[in-house]
Amino acid sequence: MSFKEGHELKIRVKPKDDCSTFAINIGHDSDNIAMHFNPRFEHEGDYNTIVCNSASGGCWGDEHREMKFPFVRGEECKFYINYNNEQFYIKLPDGSMMNFPNRLGDVKYKYFDVTGDARIIGLKLK
Ligand code: GAL
Repeated sequence: MSFKEGHELKIRVKPKDDCSTFAINIGHDSDNIAMHFNPRFEHEGDYNTIVCNSASGGCWGDEHREMKFPFVRGEECKFYINYNNEQFYIKLPDGSMMNFPNRLGDVKYKYFDVTGDARIIGLKLK
């Protein structure tokens, strides 16, 4: 997949019934991640918190925590991501927006990965 500036990625996901955490990673490879989007139901001391971060050369940057948490275990939901060279914009399942800086500053990312306790139902890039 090649996710470019100005395109919109629609992600439909179903957190498992016992989901503790899941993450969507967008970047160049597993060590260079521009957007780590990590809803945590209960994980590493966080409860119902979205943690976002980036990684460069395998090192995590500063975490950004979002207090909105429109995710429910076992319930399918959808959210949208688009970006430019400065910011990622995420439209959350409740329609609210959040953003996160595009610290790698690139406008094309080919690496996409999902980890944790969720199933991807659909991915659409347009
Ligand atoms: C770590 C966690 C990673 C990632 C990172 C984000 O504590 O183990 O999976 O979420 O935080 O900063």
